[in-house]
Amino acid sequence: MALDKRRCAPAVTRNREPLLTVLREILPPVGVVLEVASGTGEHGVHFARALPNLAWQPSDPDDGARASIAAWREAEDLPNLREPILIDARKRPWPVQGVDAIVCINMIHISPWEATEGLMAEAGRLLSFGQPLVLYGPYRRSGHPIEPSNQIFDEDLRRRDSRWGLRELDEVCACALSEGLELDRVIEMPANNLSVVFRKN
Ligand SMILES: C[S@@+](CC[C@H](N)C(=O)[O-])C[C@H]1O[C@@H](n2cnc3c(N)ncnc32)[C@H](O)[C@@H]1O
Repeated sequence: MALDKRRCAPAVTRNREPLLTVLREILPPVGVVLEVASGTGEHGVHFARALPNLAWQPSDPDDGARASIAAWREAEDLPNLREPILIDARKRPWPVQGVDAIVCINMIHISPWEATEGLMAEAGRLLSFGQPLVLYGPYRRSGHPIEPSNQIFDEDLRRRDSRWGLRELDEVCACALSEGLELDRVIEMPANNLSVVFRKN
């Protein structure tokens, strides 16, 4: 039964409300939001329910993740939550069009840097003037000593895969700018995370 494929990530329960507060302010009132690296699909359910005038398009490269997203979608029966699609941020062009905003939660430190490059390139291609790309996660920031919990997390990530690790915010911004995305704002979030908002220039 498809519903058995639903996965749960405890972090989602902690971060979805603070994230929703940010999204309410940043996302357009209507349109299509592409979520890159949707994981379990729980964020999509929460945001699609809270923002019924937006169509939520989840995606993930992992078969099990897409099965989980599809199972959550079937269980929750939300008309504005679309079927998940396969997007590997590194593999361009992405099979999607007509996007008004892009959201990517907790991916860029748990994937090779090429995924961030692909994300910025496709966001730059798909978004129109002023439309947002919203990232969420932990970062390194010049002038800010890294928080002990993020230091431990970073070391753990690099042990698991040498291509992973917390990204330097300045490098992420430079990559974004090279694809026509300007930094709009950085919002401090609970548990030493940041929401980072770019807009197509
Ligand atoms: C830590 S999980 C975060 C999932 C979800 N956004 C959340 O916050 O619960 C990282 C996700 O990134 C996805 N991912 C890894 N590499 C990726 C890539 N190259 N392109 C797109 N997604 C990727 C994984 O499949 C996984 O679902």
